[in-house]
Amino acid sequence: MKKSTCIPLMVEPRRQISFRCFLSSILLLSAVFFIGSAFIITDYKEKYLSCGSSDNMQNTRSKMCESQSMPQGSESLPKGIVSKNSDLKMRPLWGPMDKKNSKSFTNLLAIAAGIKQKESVNKIVKKFLSSDFVVMLFHYDGVVDDWRDLDWSNRAIHVSAINQTKWWFAKRFLHPDIVAEYAYIFLWDEDLGVENFDVGRYLTIIKEEGLEISQPALDANKSEVHHHLTARDRRSKVHRRTYKMIGRRRCNENSTEPPCTGWVEMMAPVFSSASWRCAWHMIQNDLVHAWGLDFQLGYCVQGDRTKNIGIVDSEYIVHYGLPTLGASVTNKKVAETPNQSAQDTSSSAGPQAASRSNQSDGRTGVRTRSYIELEIFKNRWKKAVREDYCWVDPYQKPAAKKTVEKLIAEDIHRITHRH
Ligand SMILES: *[C@@H]1O[C@H](CO)[C@@H](O)[C@H](O)[C@H]1NC(C)=O
Ligand SMILES: *[C@@H]1O[C@H](CO)[C@@H](O)[C@H](O)[C@H]1NC(C)=O
Ligand SMILES: *[C@@H]1O[C@H](CO)[C@@H](O)[C@H](O)[C@H]1NC(C)=O
Ligand SMILES: *[C@@H]1O[C@H](CO)[C@@H](O)[C@H](O)[C@H]1NC(C)=O
Ligand SMILES: *[C@@H]1O[C@H](CO)[C@@H](O)[C@H](O)[C@H]1NC(C)=O
Repeated sequence: MKKSTCIPLMVEPRRQISFRCFLSSILLLSAVFFIGSAFIITDYKEKYLSCGSSDNMQNTRSKMCESQSMPQGSESLPKGIVSKNSDLKMRPLWGPMDKKNSKSFTNLLAIAAGIKQKESVNKIVKKFLSSDFVVMLFHYDGVVDDWRDLDWSNRAIHVSAINQTKWWFAKRFLHPDIVAEYAYIFLWDEDLGVENFDVGRYLTIIKEEGLEISQPALDANKSEVHHHLTARDRRSKVHRRTYKMIGRRRCNENSTEPPCTGWVEMMAPVFSSASWRCAWHMIQNDLVHAWGLDFQLGYCVQGDRTKNIGIVDSEYIVHYGLPTLGASVTNKKVAETPNQSAQDTSSSAGPQAASRSNQSDGRTGVRTRSYIELEIFKNRWKKAVREDYCWVDPYQKPAAKKTVEKLIAEDIHRITHRH
């Protein structure tokens, strides 16, 4: 009898429950009268309370439930079963986790890698293995098997798609809900020299300094340096601004915006979990070279971009600037051209932003495409700013700042004068 009262009814639509419960309560009540055993009375009380509550307390409950925020699409499930986040930990088919996998990784290294840069990638990955990193390789040349001989290969997650950029992969395989549990996300190119880089010390520094977005400085003697800001300052541990002349602009301690301060280049960025959640949303699905994104990173740093973005000088790297994607020719080191880097808009976005020479292969196409994408991105940003009344630019200079009210007034003016 116990089992035949409320429990099976719970699988039916909730609308019917109160009526059925009412019926079964009556049945139960009769049973209580006839049998009168203390055991059943206790049992009955519990059932009555739980059944009755679904009716009497429906209003209270629906009020309570409205305020529960459930991930979209999961509303029809009981809350406790909803598994919102995931991770990149590999799990065994049976038995306990093996020792290598059982420790929990707290950070993530993702590298876009081609087999031609195997040695360089191997060196980078080895620097991270000793720390608590999940390693992910984005194979843009489709070659996966040739990495197997490296002893860490089975530990890494390999994702392969022909001729796709780091940003294409990142947008698709580093969704913030998937990588939410990683404190820091290193989204690196493959053509980096890491002899003078220690990831443990690097992590300590960025935590101490509160850097939400950062990069190791570039060794200016050996690297292709596009921007003054990211060149290594040998006298400091961390720097957040440059004091150089950039174009006609002199950067100084009062500068508040890129290219003087508040951004990093795209070859070796490091994101905190929160800043990645924001940056991921800013990556455009179709703009695979992501040019222009770097200068807007300041909007993702959970605060002031002149403070929360920085370049770590004491742990630094070499950027070889190999034209690795869309090219067969390798390693043409290009000197910095100050006038080029002077343009506000110029930005480098990974392996594809390298050689300036005209090679009659994919390079020219990649470069041209990158510049086109930069224009599209800038226009999209401007349009988004224009159309979002509710958005307030935290970095806009007070003089130029338009209030929401003013924008709305302008819009009303435009609409009423249209006809
Ligand atoms: C670059 O090379 C010059 C000359 O060899 C040297 O004086 C300077 O210290 C080097 N700079 C760095 C950052 O290593
Ligand atoms: C920076 O701003 C301060 C205060 O307005 C001013 O005194 C100083 O001269 C400025 N520095 C430069 C290099 O412009
Ligand atoms: C990938 O890009 C390379 C270099 O531009 C090109 O030669 C190759 O055909 C592309 N592969 C595919 C499958 O499109
Ligand atoms: C950069 O531009 C300035 C003025 O336009 C010019 O004098 C200088 O030679 C240029 N430098 C390079 C390296 O092209
Ligand atoms: C690059 O080289 C190709 C073929 O050699 C030529 O057709 C093209 O005009 C060149 N482009 C530039 C920008 O020099």
